[in-house]
Amino acid sequence: MKRLKIGVLASGGGSNLQSIIDRTLDGSVSAEVVVVISNNTTAFALERAAKHGIDALHISAVSEGSQDAADERITAEMIQRDVDYVVLAGYMKMIGTHLLSAFNGKIMNIHPALLPKFGGKGMYGMNVHKAVIAAGETESGATVHLVDGEYDHGRTLAQVKVDVFPDDTAETLQKRILEKEHLIFPETIGKIATGELK
Ligand code: GRF
Repeated sequence: MKRLKIGVLASGGGSNLQSIIDRTLDGSVSAEVVVVISNNTTAFALERAAKHGIDALHISAVSEGSQDAADERITAEMIQRDVDYVVLAGYMKMIGTHLLSAFNGKIMNIHPALLPKFGGKGMYGMNVHKAVIAAGETESGATVHLVDGEYDHGRTLAQVKVDVFPDDTAETLQKRILEKEHLIFPETIGKIATGELK
């Protein structure tokens, strides 16, 4: 079976990145993370990558001079490593047009809600969970989806649900969902690698 080559973009702690690396290393997902790129020099995701001997790069509008130049370099780094799929694991920047056209239909993201609900501009991090609780929802979850030019918009690849309890805070809900994210994200990549998911 072909081992998918994955390039990851991450801005923060990278717990989803870690779950993907772990499943590729234990062989349950037939993929290999070949590069991790962050717009943020202090992202713990970069440290996680380096610890596993994975190329870890900081590329941003600041390092490259403009967002467009950053987009071009990210695209070049992915192409140079023969990346099959680009995975957004807590990446807080809009994807640029160079990357979108080079990896059309081959960029995926995870969002901590049941899209199409609670997605779109401004719906990231704790904002999502706060909005879910404020709306009185009884369930939330996580969605793995393909990325197109709009925030949280492309085709859904997988979804997992969790209960929202009356005494939940944004923090307790986030934690419950994150645990599920760590299962569903590698699992979805694994299904793409086997061809079970197209
Ligand atoms: C996750 O909640 C994910 O759904 C969202 O960003 C967060 C990233 O967390 N897109 P981590 O950096 O993987 O720990």
